[in-house]
Amino acid sequence: MPITQLKINGVRNLTNVELELSEGFNFFYGENGSGKTSLLEAISLLAHGRSFRTVNYRQLIQHEQPHMSVFAEVAQQSGIASKVGVLRPQRGQSTFKIDGSPVYSSASLASLLPLQVINSKSFDLLDGPRKVRRGMFDWLVFHVKHEFSVLWRDYTKAVKQRNSLLRRDKISGYELAPWDIELNRLGISIDALRQECLQPFLDKVDTLIPDINLPKEYRVDIEYQRGWTEGQTLSEALTESYAKDRKYGYTTCGAHKSELKVLINKQAAAEVLSRGQQKSLIAAFMFAELQIFQQLMNKPSVLLIDDLPAELDQQHIQCLANWLLDLDTQVFVTGIYAEDMDRLKNKMNNKPCKVFHVKHGEINECNP
Ligand SMILES: Nc1ncnc2c1ncn2[C@@H]1O[C@H](COP(=O)(O)OP(=O)(O)OP(=O)(O)O)[C@@H](O)[C@H]1O
Ligand SMILES: [Mg+2]
Repeated sequence: MPITQLKINGVRNLTNVELELSEGFNFFYGENGSGKTSLLEAISLLAHGRSFRTVNYRQLIQHEQPHMSVFAEVAQQSGIASKVGVLRPQRGQSTFKIDGSPVYSSASLASLLPLQVINSKSFDLLDGPRKVRRGMFDWLVFHVKHEFSVLWRDYTKAVKQRNSLLRRDKISGYELAPWDIELNRLGISIDALRQECLQPFLDKVDTLIPDINLPKEYRVDIEYQRGWTEGQTLSEALTESYAKDRKYGYTTCGAHKSELKVLINKQAAAEVLSRGQQKSLIAAFMFAELQIFQQLMNKPSVLLIDDLPAELDQQHIQCLANWLLDLDTQVFVTGIYAEDMDRLKNKMNNKPCKVFHVKHGEINECNP
């Protein structure tokens, strides 16, 4: 049971919201502009320290307000709830606290509240740059392989150092050598962790894809590319790419260039699939990750689905509902119409559910 209580102040049109949440499913309906996405943004702020929609979190602060804050009680396996809070001012430093102590790394927030989001931006997973797919897959690696977080932090620091050397007027291969050795060491470890997560992910996705009901002749392939040529060490690849890296001023190969290609009969999935099919496939990736996380970590997690019914017919809504039933995740679903949310609630058998009405920035539970 992750988030039991939520208090939101000054996030977009949510002035002062206090909610007692269901440990299972939380459905929110309301007209356009009522505050549904803002609610999910507030939860994302807590879990990631940032918004899922904009890099400029200040846009989330309510107009004319000096700051926004989100506070939650998060139930823990131990039975003792953690209190998580974020205060972001218009100017100056943000403060994140867990149980009253300041937190400085977004990794601590992310591991306290493992969170997946499906929203209109999720389409970037198929038609956006490779770093979006890498981020999606690394969510799983981060949450199930504890070494990953530090390796990735050190790796990205080393890439930055190497890039700043590459941009200098004069450098020699001699100056780059220590960074190449470091990138090789870290990059190989990162790739190994990703490889360990890959097969369970592919197997899980394979079990979900038939539910989407794609045309029979569609073969979905997910191809992992580690970011440098097979059969080479990363040091060898870096030495080989030296001239190119100098020309562009950044490191063009390595674990930060890995890719997870999603293909339908060898063509990019985004070019072949309809919007509804894309959304269902993207949801399959998220559900696969959450299921693996659940099996391996036995820890609570949170899934946000903004405007679940958008783009989906009844058959595909049913498909997502069935997947939701298989998860032991706390779920927040939004939609415009009460009937859609009620229908979803009725599909959830006897799992704990609450339905909320969102209107002009106020959120009230229906039939509490
Ligand atoms: N910084 C801000 N301060 C106050 N209100 C804002 C701010 N930024 C956006 N808004 C408004 O907050 C309201 C809620 O937006 P939100 O995106 O949460 O709506 P929604 O319920 O998700 O709507 P839709 O169904 O159209 O997706 C909108 O009217 C929006 O214009
Ligand atoms: Mg919205």
